[in-house]
Amino acid sequence: MTVESNRKTAIVTGAAGGMGYGIAERLGRDGFNVVLADIQADLLAGSVKALKAEGLSVEGVACDIGVQSDVQDLAAKTREFFGPIDVLVNNAGISPKKNGKKEAIEDLTYDGWNRVLAVNLSSHFLLAQEAIRDMKKSGWGRIVNISSQGGRTRPQWAGAHYTASKSGVIGFTRALALDLGPFGVTANCIAPGRIITPMANVISSASNDAFIKEIPVGFFGEPKDIAGPISFLVSEDARFVNGAVLDVNGGSFMG
Ligand SMILES: NC(=O)c1ccc[n+]([C@@H]2O[C@H](COP(=O)([O-])OP(=O)(O)OC[C@H]3O[C@@H](n4cnc5c(N)ncnc54)[C@H](O)[C@@H]3O)[C@@H](O)[C@H]2O)c1
Repeated sequence: MTVESNRKTAIVTGAAGGMGYGIAERLGRDGFNVVLADIQADLLAGSVKALKAEGLSVEGVACDIGVQSDVQDLAAKTREFFGPIDVLVNNAGISPKKNGKKEAIEDLTYDGWNRVLAVNLSSHFLLAQEAIRDMKKSGWGRIVNISSQGGRTRPQWAGAHYTASKSGVIGFTRALALDLGPFGVTANCIAPGRIITPMANVISSASNDAFIKEIPVGFFGEPKDIAGPISFLVSEDARFVNGAVLDVNGGSFMG
């Protein structure tokens, strides 16, 4: 494989579908080498194939980002494919629900709680640790973590484990921004409102109909509405944006 030496390399987690696919596609079109990571191996293979067919420089790694050895393997494979990690987009997340509704706190199991925290928050820590090593060496890096409107304000649809993990993502991003700024590395967070993806489709259409009335722009977002802001945050234009939480929600929450 020929790797253009001036291309920067990005990892996007949860990139087989939903928002992550849109982000991977956008970064690929922006000229990054992109490693798509996802637990759904078959879906991932199809997504990587589709992006390669577009002529983009992409590879896929099937992994469970809630497992430390998988994260280490993802970082190692990325370096093998393309070299050091320049950009990390921690996008993968899970929001377990029961019949499309959030589960009562007293009904959550400890295993269920720990799994959500592992996938939605601890993975950010593990992957950032890997990426930071490369970024500090090169003196440049961009980390974008996906939180959620539910982690910023009144959580209506998601379980307590999800809400706690997404608020934790914001705190972790701020810690990264403070510690890594001196090394040319920025860390920022995006807090999406409702974006049309498989995750959002689990929510009942009645809830979605009620929610859309609260969005000033009058529509739900699409993956491209998150991919665009990420394209900016990982660019040189965003060099002074560090530790920010960007609400991308059509105005349904104004922080
Ligand atoms: N869709 C929304 O309305 C919305 C709103 C706010 C925040 N978010 C957040 O945005 C991110 C993307 O959400 P989405 O709507 O695209 O979700 P999605 O469920 O449609 O896609 C998530 C992807 O992550 C992958 N994934 C799940 N667990 C994984 C694991 N352990 N290891 C590797 N990959 C794994 C899935 O296979 C899937 O491809 C999530 O962090 C989510 O919490 C989504």
